[in-house]
This record gives sequence, structure tokens and C-alpha cells, in this order.
Amino acid sequence: MLFGFGSKKVLGLDIGTSSIKMAELDVSKRGAALLGFSMMATPEVAVNGGEIVDLASLSEVLSDMVRELGTKRKHVAAALWGSAIIVKKISVQAADKSVLEQQLSWEAEQYIPFDVNEVNLSYKILGPSAAGVEIMDVLLVAARHEYVFKYMEVIGQARLECSILDVAGFALANCFEKNYGVMKGQVVGLMNIGASVTTFVVVDSGEVVFCRDIPVGGLTYTAEIQRGMGVNADEAEAMKLSVSMGQAAPDEAASLIQNAHEGVCEEINASIDFFLNTNQSGGVAQFYLSGGSMALPGLAQAISRVTGTPCEPLNPFFRIKSKGKKLSSSYLSEIQNFAAIAVGLGLRQAGDS
Ligand SMILES: Nc1ncnc2c1ncn2[C@@H]1O[C@H](COP(=O)(O)OP(=O)(O)OP(=O)(O)O)[C@@H](O)[C@H]1O
Ligand SMILES: [Mg+2]
Repeated sequence: MLFGFGSKKVLGLDIGTSSIKMAELDVSKRGAALLGFSMMATPEVAVNGGEIVDLASLSEVLSDMVRELGTKRKHVAAALWGSAIIVKKISVQAADKSVLEQQLSWEAEQYIPFDVNEVNLSYKILGPSAAGVEIMDVLLVAARHEYVFKYMEVIGQARLECSILDVAGFALANCFEKNYGVMKGQVVGLMNIGASVTTFVVVDSGEVVFCRDIPVGGLTYTAEIQRGMGVNADEAEAMKLSVSMGQAAPDEAASLIQNAHEGVCEEINASIDFFLNTNQSGGVAQFYLSGGSMALPGLAQAISRVTGTPCEPLNPFFRIKSKGKKLSSSYLSEIQNFAAIAVGLGLRQAGDS
């Protein structure tokens, strides 16, 4: 995570382009339990590529969600994604902490496309580098102040307080780890396929070694239908969902979805290649999928075929019990695809690293 302070119980908050998710969990040594979950539509054009654009409309929805949860919690764990954040592996001279931090802010200049004075830098040591002795691989995380301020601000306007700020991909990995445990020596890929991005993370023996938001997702498909059939965005979105849920829809929409898999999988494959070429971890043994768009018919099969790697759904409630009257099993299966990042955030406690 980028920062975490206080030891308050938090609400996990995942602000997406298409929907906002809020998860309240009870975390104890004996395990975790879901107490409540709220999901509401993101106001139109309030979020763009990971940047919060319309604070007023968004903060109103956040207040509604808190009301729906009926929670007393005021502290939030939120996550940056998309253009708000850059996560990059770099290699630096092995050094102690203070020297390393200095060196990183200097090094960062050549790796990030904006002024280092405008970013929050954070890092995670991966271990000795293949580049040579006394060289270390480090995962550098740079978040633009401007984006961070807007997150704090929108959360504040909803009378909440942001006490943990994370990276969406790291929260996804946290959700995976808490549910599936750490698998020593195993390299798994996690993909959260949302509306505008696919958050792709590689976890090696429980550690995030790669994290990138690939700019493809449900909106890629909606745009294809819109273009191919000459309909507007709302109509295209409705057709996509109808096809996906097996409801009446034009055959053309169904075939446009199938055709779009190729381009999406190409993008995903390019990121996997980049990971393989820049990382010492071996190939990915298994993909776990989540996100609203993982339900697109044929997508999981296409990813599996193109990457030659099996895919299975990431169940965010695999090892998490549910408490609370509103959490029927049918509701849980309804939110299952959407919940991973919010749950990964809701499981965070200040003091985690
Ligand atoms: N049953 C379904 N079949 C196919 N697609 C679906 C289904 N339900 C939702 N979607 C799509 O999933 C997307 C929403 O998923 P999700 O809430 O995970 O995205 P988001 O977090 O808002 O987006 P992002 O993370 O990219 O900002 C939308 O593009 C929506 O069309
Ligand atoms: Mg999302």
C-alpha cells in the first residue's frame, strides 16, 4: 500500500469507471467475515481512466453507500489505478534504507513520465537482481499528488476519512492471498477485467512481482458493438449484457463480442510477454479471473487458448464467511465477480505492509 495510518476498522472502497464497490469486513486472527457489501453505479463521467473527475456526484454516491451498509465506520481503504499510478520494476545498487530512498527518487526521474516533485513515491524490494551482484530489483510505485488529493477530497466530502491508500492490483493480490493462501514456488496471474481496464498482477510465492493496468475491458466490447451496429453507447451496453446473460439479442452483437476477444487477448498477451522478458519469475501456471467483464461469453476460454494457461474464477469469498442478514447466497453470487478489489481493501489493516 502507499500509506496507512491509525488502527481503525476500515471500509474497502473500489471506485471503478462503471461501478463503485464498498466492503465491510470483520478481520480477526481466526479469519475474516463479510459484514456488508454495497455496489452502486458510478455517476456518468465521474471517473475517467482512474482519475476522479466529478467529486460532487461521486461523494453523494459514497454517502448513499454508507447509508445502505448501515455502518458506523468512517475510515476507508481506497486504491489507485489506471493513469493515477505507475508501477515499475527497476534495478538499483543494493543499499540501506535511507540511501535506497534517495537513490529511488533520483532513479524515478528516468522512469516516470512526469515531474518527481508531483508524485508520491513508494517501493517494494523484490530481491537480488539477475543484472549482477549487489544489484537489487525493486518495484517502484509512483502516484501523482493531484490524483491522490482528489481521492482524499471525494472521500472527505462523503464525511469519511481515507486512512489507507493502496494500489488496486495489490489489493487484488491481497484478496487472492487471504482466500487461497501463499503457494510457495508457484507463479499465478490475477486479472480483474473491469470496464475500462484489466488489472493484471503476477504473484510469485505470495509476493506481487508485476502489476499493470491494461487498457482493455468491458468498454472495449461496448465500443465494438456501438461501431459495428451503429447504435449509441447505452444501446450497445444493453445488447452486450443481453448476449452475456443469454437474453434475446441480435446475433450480430454476439459475433462482435466474439471478434473482439482477439484484440483484447493480444493486449493481455503483450503484457504477459513483457512480464516474462523483464522478470526472473517463471511462467504463469494459472490465471484467476475477476471483474464484471469476466462474464463475457468466451472470454475466459479465449485467454486460456491465447496464453496457453488455464483460467479459473477468483472467488473472493473462498475463505471468507459471511455474516449479516442482507448477505444471502444469491446476493453473494451476484456480487462475486465484482467484489475482489473491495474485499482485498476491506481486509487491509493499518500496519500491514
Ligand atoms: N453479466 C455480465 N456480462 C458481461 N459483462 C458484464 C456483466 N456484468 C457487468 N459487465 C460489465 O462489467 C463492467 C463492470 O465491471 P466492474 O464493476 O468490475 O468494472 P469497474 O470497476 O467499474 O471498471 P474499471 O475497473 O475498469 O474502472 C462493465 O463494463 C459491464 O458492462
Ligand atoms: Mg474496477
